[in-house]
Amino acid sequence: MDLFSSYLLYLMLFSISLPVVFLITYRHKSSNPNLPPGKMGWPIIGETLDFALACQGGNPGRFVNDRMNKYSPQVFKTSLLEANMVVMCGGSGNKFLFSNEDKLVVSWWQRSMKKILCFPSVFNETLTKISSDPPTFLPEFLKPEALQHYIATMDSMASKHIELNWSPNREVTVFPLAKKYSFALAFRLFMSIVDPEYVEMISHRFQILNEGFLSVPIDIPGTTFNRALKASKFIHNELLAIIRKRKMELEQKGDSATRDLLSHMLLASDENCNVKSEMEISTQLICLLFAIHHTTSSVITFILKYLAEFPDVYSKVLKEQMEIAKSKGPAEFLKRDDIQKMKYTWNVANETMRLTPPVQGTFREAITDFTYAGFTIPKGWKMHWNVNTTHRDPKYFPDPEKFDPSRFEGKGPQPFTFVPFGGGPRMCPGREYARAQVLAFIHNVVTRFKWEKVDPSEKVAYNPSPIPSKGFPIRLQPLQNGFI
Ligand code: HEM
Ligand SMILES: *[C@@H]1O[C@H](CO)[C@@H](O)[C@H](O)[C@H]1NC(C)=O
Ligand SMILES: *[C@@H]1O[C@H](CO)[C@@H](O)[C@H](O)[C@H]1NC(C)=O
Ligand SMILES: *[C@@H]1O[C@H](CO)[C@@H](O)[C@H](O)[C@H]1NC(C)=O
Repeated sequence: MDLFSSYLLYLMLFSISLPVVFLITYRHKSSNPNLPPGKMGWPIIGETLDFALACQGGNPGRFVNDRMNKYSPQVFKTSLLEANMVVMCGGSGNKFLFSNEDKLVVSWWQRSMKKILCFPSVFNETLTKISSDPPTFLPEFLKPEALQHYIATMDSMASKHIELNWSPNREVTVFPLAKKYSFALAFRLFMSIVDPEYVEMISHRFQILNEGFLSVPIDIPGTTFNRALKASKFIHNELLAIIRKRKMELEQKGDSATRDLLSHMLLASDENCNVKSEMEISTQLICLLFAIHHTTSSVITFILKYLAEFPDVYSKVLKEQMEIAKSKGPAEFLKRDDIQKMKYTWNVANETMRLTPPVQGTFREAITDFTYAGFTIPKGWKMHWNVNTTHRDPKYFPDPEKFDPSRFEGKGPQPFTFVPFGGGPRMCPGREYARAQVLAFIHNVVTRFKWEKVDPSEKVAYNPSPIPSKGFPIRLQPLQNGFI
């Protein structure tokens, strides 16, 4: 409801300036005769309200889908998040955006997001540096070679989390617990922080921050946006304190100080030998934690949901995971090789991300005028790609509503049609981390339990990642050596 009420407030505030805006919109329209089809909706807010309502109705893809049917299956114009926007659809739309990064388009984040995350400092360096190399510390820390050192930690933390929070209970609610695990893991791997209460407290602030993203950027007490800004400031101050403490430790202990992402960031210098400022590091950490906050936990939750719905899929996953479990000693943790062996389980994860992708799509901005599908896209206009324009299209995925992990066997989907992590140079740098984390968790759950849904009619809500509306409560049945 919060999202909705802030839009109403927004509408009321801006209705005062309607006549002026109409004039501006009118002039703009007449000077660009060859824009894609579509309608711009209300002044300033455009069709954002319809978009928000579609999200609240549990069907964000509907907004895009209705307009594809009405105007064009390739491209249409609208106005979203205070910007002139073109939605590029289908495999060819994705291909165009992902292969023209830094040539015709660059990443774009809406104003409220920039303000909450304290932009431009963080993405500034990556966005303005027109080149395909992403920030140097990220690939270093997130690439498979570095990740292999963390897989044992992912496994041991999943195991501990389940013993503490799942084993003594017959009934658990999956989403909040998956989030607790994801966040605890990130704090441990990035900053070596292990106090669960502290992590929980910061995680709660991220929840507030997250709600601010699709909100209208009106900064007055009581608005969602205002609360998000306050939460962001709070998190920054906490992180700055952590950063300063570590800086002192590094100065005093040198090589024997803690080694993790934070130390790496503090020690790393960029090409011009500038050590990153404390504020930069804090913002980069916030962006990373934000990218993790909902995504991996949403995937874990929906995998468990599909496994409850499809016993044959569950059996195959169990078989694969038991084979891996049996090949290991009692106190031996998962390694990179084991993750590679989880092929079927990863296909299940892919099929889960096809039907309930954690990220619905992102935005780009045109850095020059160009033509697409015969239409002019003017410089400065924003573009949106959306997972649903391909993930549920029968042309790419026959019988699209059916959950069928075997789609990912063999050659798998056509390029640019399965895009849960985006594509091109800006494709999610955390995808290997996400894969290892999700698989380590599923390994630990599946080898211990079978489960069933508590509420078979539970709906899915979007905020904007999909989440079962009650957090997905399940009843657990413990397994003994892989059997009930
Ligand atoms: C299943 C989980 C995840 C999904 C589905 C996901 C999806 C995405 C998508 C769609 C984008 C935008 C790509 C684009 O605009 O083309 C993105 C960006 C990003 N993701 Fe992820 N992500 C996940 C997990 C993670 C994790 C675990 C991390 C960090 C460890 C991470 C870090 C980032 C960062 C830093 C960006 C911004 C990259 C840039 O703009 O250069 N993500 N992610
Ligand atoms: C996604 O697209 C399909 C067809 O392409 C449509 O039927 C569906 O309503 C859309 N929305 C969602 C959330 O799947
Ligand atoms: C962001 O980049 C622009 C252009 O390179 C620069 O002028 C500005 O100072 C940068 N902002 C911050 C906070 O680094
Ligand atoms: C599963 O998804 C990942 C990430 O998008 C992709 O790289 C991989 O090729 C997919 N697996 C198959 C078998 O298509």
